[in-house]
Amino acid sequence: MNSCLTQPLTDTHIVIVGGSAGIGLATAATAKARGASATLIGRNAERLELASKDIGGARTGVADISDRTQIETVFANMSPIDHLVITAGSLQAGLVAESDPDRLLRAVDERIAGALYVIKAALPLMSFQGSIVLTGGQYSDRPTGQGTALTAMAVRGIEALAQSLALELSPIRVNVIAPGLIDTALFDSLGADIRAGIFRAATKSLPVGRVGTPEEVADAIIFLLTNGYMNGEVLHIDGGGRLV
Ligand SMILES: NC(=O)c1ccc[n+]([C@@H]2O[C@H](COP(=O)([O-])OP(=O)(O)OC[C@H]3O[C@@H](n4cnc5c(N)ncnc54)[C@H](OP(=O)(O)O)[C@@H]3O)[C@@H](O)[C@H]2O)c1
Repeated sequence: MNSCLTQPLTDTHIVIVGGSAGIGLATAATAKARGASATLIGRNAERLELASKDIGGARTGVADISDRTQIETVFANMSPIDHLVITAGSLQAGLVAESDPDRLLRAVDERIAGALYVIKAALPLMSFQGSIVLTGGQYSDRPTGQGTALTAMAVRGIEALAQSLALELSPIRVNVIAPGLIDTALFDSLGADIRAGIFRAATKSLPVGRVGTPEEVADAIIFLLTNGYMNGEVLHIDGGGRLV
C-alpha cells in the first residue's frame, strides 16, 4: 500500500493569480513553508513587492486577469509550472435594477474570461502531475438577494468550467475552492460600517460563531494541490455557512 498519500510541494513552482493579498497571499505563504517557490500575479506592482517581502521572496508579475494581452505577456517568459491557483477577483456588488451592467459584469470578466485567459496561457508550461485550483464561493449555493447576482452567476460558472476542464485537461487535475465569509480586504470597498455589519451578522449566524481566515482557506487549497486523487471537486470551506 502506498503510505505517501500526498504529493510533496518541495521544489515545486506555484503560480498564484491574485497572490498579492488575502487568500492568494496566504496560499503562497503556506506553499512556501512547504518548500515551494511562488509567482504572485496581481494588478499593483507595489502591492506585489510588499507581498513578496512578506513571504520571504517570490517572483511577481503585473497583470489584470481580465486583460488577455496582459495575461499572455506575464506568462510569456515564465518557468515551468507545477500548480496554478486563481484567486483574483474584486467585489462588484449592486442590485441589478440599480447598477451599471458593465460594472456588474466585471465579476464575470474576472472570474470566467480571466480564468480562461490564465489557463490558456499557463497550459503549455504546466506539469502533467500538476493541478489547477479555481476560486468559487458560497453564493453559488446560497444567493443573497442583496446585490451579488452576477458574482453568484460567475462562481456557479467556475464550478462547471472546472468540472469540464478536469476531463479536458486530464491528467492535470482541476478543482474549485468555495469559501464562505473570510476576513480579507475584499469587502473594504463597501466601507468600514457595512463591512463591520456583515461580519457581525455572520458571527451571529454561522455555526462556528466566527468569520473564517485566509490561512484556513489556504490550508484547504494546499489539500487540493497535494492530494493526487482530488479532481473535479468543489471543496466548501464556510464554517457551515451553507446550512444557515
Ligand atoms: N473573502 C471572502 O469572504 C471570499 C468569499 C468567497 C469567495 N471569495 C473569492 O476569493 C477570491 C480572493 O478573495 P480575497 O478575499 O482573497 O480578496 P482580496 O484580499 O481582495 O485579494 C484579491 C487578490 O486578487 C487581486 N486581484 C483583484 N482583482 C484582480 C484583477 N482584476 N486582476 C488581477 N488580480 C486581481 C488583488 O490584487 P490587486 O487588487 O492589487 O490586483 C489581490 O491580490 C476572490 O475571487 C473572491 O471573490 C472571497
